Amino acid sequence: MNILAPSILSADFTILGEQIAKTEEAGAQYLHFDVMDGIFVPSISFGLPVLKSIRKASNQIYDVHLMIEEPIRYIEEFAESGADIITFHVEAASDPREVIDKIHSCGKKAGMSIKPKTSVYALRPYLEHLDMVLIMTVEPGFGGQKYIDECTEKIVATRKMITEMGLNTDIEIDGGVTINNIHVPVEAGANVIVAGSAVFNGNITENVKALIGEMR
Ligand code: DX5
Ligand code: ZN
Repeated sequence: MNILAPSILSADFTILGEQIAKTEEAGAQYLHFDVMDGIFVPSISFGLPVLKSIRKASNQIYDVHLMIEEPIRYIEEFAESGADIITFHVEAASDPREVIDKIHSCGKKAGMSIKPKTSVYALRPYLEHLDMVLIMTVEPGFGGQKYIDECTEKIVATRKMITEMGLNTDIEIDGGVTINNIHVPVEAGANVIVAGSAVFNGNITENVKALIGEMR
């Protein structure tokens, strides 16, 4: 089953709750929440109080993407604030295994992400412990960028690695997805697709339904 994860980074924050509810009603099963610290990535987005506040906006799976240095420092607080899946960057953690174990000890699903220039083999030592991997298809930091075509082969390689290891790990991709290219990562083996601007620019209900239609 393929899942759409709207990223609220591109939402209208004056009516955020309504917009989240629309994505849920239209069939998006996850809600993607991008946390940026201004150090791991150049930008700063939002954090714990916002997550806590919007938790009641829907019954979706809250998919928290931490773009922060040493994520171990904040796992417990994101878990308590309403995250269902917590994904961190392998490049940002001095002990990735410790972070995975921490997420699991909080009763949440653990995801690990790689930036476009990071090899998929950086994931391999951790794969058997992960619920999800997140392959970035743009440089993390901003919404509205163009999908990096070279990342498609990383999705294929990761799916191959997961299958060869006899695992069933979810593969999420994030960045530059549009109605015209969403089939590309899906055909390459991704099953959770993040979309920010393609969901929130224009009619949210129509966008979500159209994107889900193209994923099948
Ligand atoms: C980028 C974020 C993405 C972003 C995607 O650092 O991780 O989740 O919101 O935005 P679009 O879909 O507009 O590329
Ligand atoms: Zn993201």
